[in-house]
Amino acid sequence: MPIILAIESSCDETSAAMCADGKILSNVIASQKIHEQFGGVVPELASRAHMQNIVPVVDAAIKKASVSLQDLDAIAFTQAPGLIGALLVGGQFAKSLSLALNKPLIAVHHMQAHVLANLIDDNQPEFPFLCLTVSGGHTQIVKCTSPLEMEVIGQTIDDAAGEAFDKTAKLLGLPYPGGPLIDKYAAQGDPHRFAFPEPQLQGLDFSFSGLKTSILYFLNNAGAANVYKEELTATAEAKAQFISENIHDICASVQHRIISILLNKVKKAAKETGIKRVCIAGGVSANSGLRKALAEMGEKMGWTTFIPKFEYCTDNAGMIAIAAYYKYLDGQFASLDTTSSARAAW
Ligand code: KG4
Ligand code: ZN
Repeated sequence: MPIILAIESSCDETSAAMCADGKILSNVIASQKIHEQFGGVVPELASRAHMQNIVPVVDAAIKKASVSLQDLDAIAFTQAPGLIGALLVGGQFAKSLSLALNKPLIAVHHMQAHVLANLIDDNQPEFPFLCLTVSGGHTQIVKCTSPLEMEVIGQTIDDAAGEAFDKTAKLLGLPYPGGPLIDKYAAQGDPHRFAFPEPQLQGLDFSFSGLKTSILYFLNNAGAANVYKEELTATAEAKAQFISENIHDICASVQHRIISILLNKVKKAAKETGIKRVCIAGGVSANSGLRKALAEMGEKMGWTTFIPKFEYCTDNAGMIAIAAYYKYLDGQFASLDTTSSARAAW
């Protein structure tokens, strides 16, 4: 019954979790508010905030789980991918603790951990399953045949789904991260009021950059049409007025299009692989419209769908702990000279 301490520091969340025999005992997450004023994550500030947070967050995770450091069987950390300075803070901390306590070290791939978040709760998918992993940095369809065997069968060729939410929010003058706010406004809007184009991309890959451009032109033109009927491009004031009068319908329509881009590819992947168990993971899987649409599509297509608890959707160390648990069972340990990496193959 391995007891594992896991650390996540790949982006702007400092998190530590304890798990015993694959069950999460604690999952402490410190979000970095400092980035809001800059409209996106500032890597250098993220590293500094991780430095500040890491000791109290680990301490809180250990205390909450009522486990002593001596009881640990391994220490796990997110090795890649992510912001390199941010990854190094968690990685160095984990390595130092591993050396000090003479406990084995486990290096975890952040994207694999997002997929395995689906194995945290009691309602777990059987293998094989498909996972739509949608975060601020990634959009992937992963075919998962066992906890340690996964293959990316589709991915974005430009922006990630989370970026599409965040960039839309920026165009609308909303603060970062934009996803949760668009989700909130969309709940009260009409998703069919404005039509945004769906890219015609073959295969299982995604593209979101065209959507961003079409929203930009839409806001300029609609703002102009709304206030000064004869003008082609809106003044800043006209645009702001159009946005504030239509914010709910704009958010609902954009969200509707992002969801349809995602789910149409999942439908295609399910058809091509013949797999009828479909999970979602990553920060964007917190989106209430996506959760609802996936459940509805699952019912229609005869899939079993799985959605992790909210706290395991966005970046968290609980998912790192569960990935580490399976690596522990398989004897996959890392040496103390292992290095973090901003980008990493599976
Ligand atoms: O997985 P995550 O926490 O960090 C990365 O590894 O990127 O994902 C963060 C992303 C951000 O783009 C954020 O806007 C998006 O997830 N997000 C949402 C929602 N909550 C977070 N997007 C849409 N709706 C939400 N409710
Ligand atoms: Zn993530």
